[in-house]
Amino acid sequence: MGHPKFRGRRLRESPAIRRLVRETRVSVERLILPLFVEPGEGVRSAVESMPGVFRTSVDEAVRDARTAYELGLGGVLLFGIPEDKDERGSEAWSDDGIVQQAVRALKLEVPELLVVTDVCLCEYTSHGHCGIVRDGHVVNDETCELLARAAVSHARAGADIVAPSDMMDLRIGMIRAALDEEGFVQTPIMSHSVKYASAFYGPFRDAALSAPSFGDRGGYQMDPANGDEALREVRADLSEGADIIMVKPALAYLDVIRRVKEETGAPVAAYHVSGEYSAIMAAIERGWLDERAMREVLTSIGRAGADVIISYWAREFARGL
Ligand code: PBG
Repeated sequence: MGHPKFRGRRLRESPAIRRLVRETRVSVERLILPLFVEPGEGVRSAVESMPGVFRTSVDEAVRDARTAYELGLGGVLLFGIPEDKDERGSEAWSDDGIVQQAVRALKLEVPELLVVTDVCLCEYTSHGHCGIVRDGHVVNDETCELLARAAVSHARAGADIVAPSDMMDLRIGMIRAALDEEGFVQTPIMSHSVKYASAFYGPFRDAALSAPSFGDRGGYQMDPANGDEALREVRADLSEGADIIMVKPALAYLDVIRRVKEETGAPVAAYHVSGEYSAIMAAIERGWLDERAMREVLTSIGRAGADVIISYWAREFARGL
């Protein structure tokens, strides 16, 4: 064997050298923590299928937000669970809706924390679909008008970024136009551009009480088998005015995160979703895995190319667990 020789272990033997040449570091400021907000006071109810995750009232959400801020997290992502649901998801765009109340409280109490809001109808509709349903079918363009109203009401309440997660066609353009018209030209849109019809959303639907009462979301969310289509979705969203594009779920779609990042150069967010979180948490609870598994997974999402990572484990990551 001739010289020089590659010996990978030379850079692995000591912790100091490993640290020196480590390629990926997920920084705490790029992590966003989802929060579920419901009416009431002093409410903190555990979501059974998501260990460590709670539905809280606004006052308790303020406490969680303060912790997120003190830990240096990038921000929080708010989901609302309304008192009443109806066919058109009216509370989603009401200025007194639960998310709007939460945004006002958070911007008052923890003004420097970045507040992102989920813009969708599924948490607010009686049937649990992400839009208006007619003849068993989610109607696209009318739904976009309601989503645009919801986004404007979030911005009016003080949201720093709005994040539509519905997967209707053309909604980014409509939301952008509505925000601009109301004077919110500076409010960025973080679009769930590439959202797959995934089995990994199950625990979230328990948390948000948003499982569809009939059918599934395959008519609007993407087929998990498709990668090229992801690029068409992100190009469309960017051309309509999306500022940050999201891939969701993250772990089963690392290749998509990478392609989207390389081919657009836009800021990419990845959502490590409820089922991905709960599967690991369940194994940790049984002693089959330990917390390093969660850290490894979040690091892999960063390595794939995500700039922003949305994770239920953001606080623990920040605490260095
Ligand atoms: C829907 C929405 C969903 C999630 C975020 N926004 C679920 C769905 O499409 O049913 C899932 C997030 C998660 O699983 O953690 N607006």
